[in-house]
Amino acid sequence: MDKNESKLMDEIMDKFNEINELRKEDELRKEILERVGEIHDLREKRKKFIAGKDRVHYAGRVYDENEMKALVDSSLDFWLTLGVKGKKFEEKLAELLGVRKSIVCNSGSSANLLAISALKSHLLDDPLKDGDEVITVASTFPTTLAPILQNNLIPVFVDVELGSYNIDVNEIERAISPKTRAIFFAHTLGNPADIVRIMEIAKRHNLYVIEDSCDALDSKYDGKMIGSFGDISTYSFYAAHHMTMGEGGAVATDNLRIARALRSFRDWGRDCYCETGEKDPLGACKNRFKHKFKNLPDGYDHKYVFSHIGYNLKPLDIQCAMGLEQLKKLPEFSRKRKENFNILYRVLNKYQDKIILPKWLEEADVSWFAFPITIKENAGFSRNEIIEFLEEKGIETRMIFGGNILRQPGFENIQKRVVGDLRNTDIILHNSFFVGVFPGITSEKMNYMIKCFEEFFEKIN
Ligand SMILES: Cc1ncc(COP(=O)(O)O)c(C=O)c1O
Repeated sequence: MDKNESKLMDEIMDKFNEINELRKEDELRKEILERVGEIHDLREKRKKFIAGKDRVHYAGRVYDENEMKALVDSSLDFWLTLGVKGKKFEEKLAELLGVRKSIVCNSGSSANLLAISALKSHLLDDPLKDGDEVITVASTFPTTLAPILQNNLIPVFVDVELGSYNIDVNEIERAISPKTRAIFFAHTLGNPADIVRIMEIAKRHNLYVIEDSCDALDSKYDGKMIGSFGDISTYSFYAAHHMTMGEGGAVATDNLRIARALRSFRDWGRDCYCETGEKDPLGACKNRFKHKFKNLPDGYDHKYVFSHIGYNLKPLDIQCAMGLEQLKKLPEFSRKRKENFNILYRVLNKYQDKIILPKWLEEADVSWFAFPITIKENAGFSRNEIIEFLEEKGIETRMIFGGNILRQPGFENIQKRVVGDLRNTDIILHNSFFVGVFPGITSEKMNYMIKCFEEFFEKIN
């Protein structure tokens, strides 16, 4: 064998060994994933519900071996930071919503912060500026409001409706001033607000609209996905939500400039918009060292050009690996949410003289986050009496978030404008609560919950 032949032989052997190692790795991975499936099955077998002893949670993770395998598989890749799974998740979510872009982030609160921050970006022709007003509601989750304040904007509060718990659209126009630039509201507990009317008002007054859809993934209005109407929509993938990544969130938009601003704020404020993990050293755009900025040296690495005062709000890739599995289950999750809601509605309908039942618009197809209830004034019992009864029986209850956020200690002294007396918001603060309808509520748990409600109403009669 001459020298060249021997070198070639060595190379072939190296390749051969590498292929063998990869094959071995594949076999090990397969074995690990099979074992993960076995762990899942063992846990499933142990699952049982003992009425009165085990809690009926208002929400929770619903998953099977596929999520567990996706998490382990992704952690074996050991990419860790946002990568291929994140990109795929963003594409799938945008496709589901019917918008051009979605940007994944680490929570629904971060999604809301990104949404408001992006509306102040220089990339927009007409960005918001300090002191501008944003119409919103006080019956809210705190981090729907917080980003307005954190961005030096002034919240203008209008009342909500009882039953739908959504922004009272009739109040919006009354609240508009020359400083008003945006409307930011949540589709409460998955129930679509009157979005077509809101968009019509926004168009007439040239206002941006942010739909906090953190509790409303897969709800529809007139067949169109909630979150696809406004300029930006936000989502939460915390364990209690329609689907979960443990913690996680996303922002979605049809506007490519807004999408670029959202991505920049999420990624430290950087100007470069090539995907992370891009293999080409010159960037996908090939222009990494070709940009010019006024006060920077020509061709300063675009990866290190910061055009926004941003954050780092990225999730991990393993979260997105799980998110991809959860997305596949979303239609079934929504079906079960609706089924549980309808069962509970039929039962509680009998007590309409004492409680306000949920209301929704005719055009709405609601994937309910939960079942909201408001105790009527002359019901003969208080909210605390019913929730203490239910909690003692093991049925979890929750407040409709902050009730009236303006009465919460952290928000008492914020700069604001209030339109009207927020009467319904205060009723929610004092008299409303919700119970769960999530897919983890099996018929066994639902029957028990119904029994407890009936027992309570018999007792107070
Ligand atoms: C309407 C609404 N917006 C925002 C959030 C915040 O989401 P996260 O908990 O993922 O930060 C929540 C949380 O439940 C919410 O209900």
